[in-house]
Amino acid sequence: MKSLSVHAHAKVNLYLGVLGVREDGYHELETLFQAITLFDELVIQESSGKSTFEVSGHPRLETDDNLVLRAQRWIESQIRERLPVSIRLTKNIPEAAGLGGGSSDAAAALLGIRDLFDLELTDDDLSRGALSLGADVPFFLNGGTAVGEGIGERLTPVTLPYAYSLILINPGFPVSTPLVFREFSKGLTDRPRKGKLWKLLGLHHGLEDLMHNDLQSTCERLYPEVEEARKVLGSLGLRKTLMTGSGPTIFGPSDTDVTTIVRGCLNQSWKVFFSEPAQKGVVIH
Ligand code: C5P
Repeated sequence: MKSLSVHAHAKVNLYLGVLGVREDGYHELETLFQAITLFDELVIQESSGKSTFEVSGHPRLETDDNLVLRAQRWIESQIRERLPVSIRLTKNIPEAAGLGGGSSDAAAALLGIRDLFDLELTDDDLSRGALSLGADVPFFLNGGTAVGEGIGERLTPVTLPYAYSLILINPGFPVSTPLVFREFSKGLTDRPRKGKLWKLLGLHHGLEDLMHNDLQSTCERLYPEVEEARKVLGSLGLRKTLMTGSGPTIFGPSDTDVTTIVRGCLNQSWKVFFSEPAQKGVVIH
């Protein structure tokens, strides 16, 4: 039976500006996505019987609405055929953490299943499927570094001239993305900020000068532990600390792996990661 191992990388948002709300409730964004080396693993295997889905150590994630199963169903709906497949997912990326773990798993399932069965689905087909699964799923199909516009699906790859590593602290609880966006929107007036990210990129300042997240103060107000985590990270001498996505994970560029020092300062339920920018979103082995 054919089998593939697929790495689904996490991301951080080095910049996240919210421009406004669309009629469907989604927010128009201008964001700078960066894939990072932290990854989940999916082992996708052709099955002789029924399809199965297992999440090692996290059976509560084995639900029908898991994005991996939704990705499989999307492919089946396109080719009008059932694909007997066993998928085993090993989670390393914290959930609902602003790191895009679930979205990356979905992109990995789309690319992995297409490869395993050598399906005639184009990259454009997969991008369409990806967007139907979530606003930042399309980013993970290619990963790397990209500006995301629209709701995050209009992607332009960019090259950043910085060499850096990242320290991340995840405060160990999930955050509700819709809640953070909704709360943020209450204070949103028409702000003429479109193009600000492109302007910043053109100025060629340091990485720290680019880093910004409009949602950070809202999330810190809703979940004060996020600010606490950011202060802990800042107190370790990082030049800049920022929340990724709608939170609650905090990160900062660091030249050295200070995870052991950080670990000593942490609340028991917090997790710390050392990571690097990655060239890809999904890697098939
Ligand atoms: O697309 P996805 O399912 O990942 O989004 C989760 C939720 O985040 C949406 O239901 C929406 O409330 C919010 N969101 C948003 N604008 C975006 C992306 C997400 O309002 N651009």
